[in-house]
Amino acid sequence: MPDTDDLIEAARAVRLRAYVPYSRFHVGAAIRSASGAVYAGCNVENVAYPEGTCAEAGAIAAMIAGGDTQIAQIAVIADSPDPVSPCGGCRQKIAEFAKGDTPVTLTTTDGARLDTTVSALLPGAFDQDQMSRV
Ligand code: THU
Repeated sequence: MPDTDDLIEAARAVRLRAYVPYSRFHVGAAIRSASGAVYAGCNVENVAYPEGTCAEAGAIAAMIAGGDTQIAQIAVIADSPDPVSPCGGCRQKIAEFAKGDTPVTLTTTDGARLDTTVSALLPGAFDQDQMSRV
């Protein structure tokens, strides 16, 4: 398990910037890319509710904008009773840029924590290999 302290700290810091007037549920996510750079994102809601974006999606967008494409590690934090669980869409978004054994650390502001992996979160992910005949 690589060090997670700086990643959790980056997620904790960006969480404070979440734009969540509808849910009031602040989430932060931070990615360490294969290059070692750290990218963070928070959830950004919208008055048209389905147009909101999750913290994980924001961190992935920052990573791509920064010129990286491989997630080496990811951490997510929220003020949830249990370690925050990424939605189904974000599990697929993370799987696009990570290997199955990539570590995922799910945390709460109170310090609860679940260390898991991308494939544990999304077994049988639809992946690029399934597109090889097109
Ligand atoms: N949310 C995230 O940003 N990430 C998660 O892992 C779980 C849920 C956001 C979406 C929405 O802005 C709010 O939390 C409530 O669903």
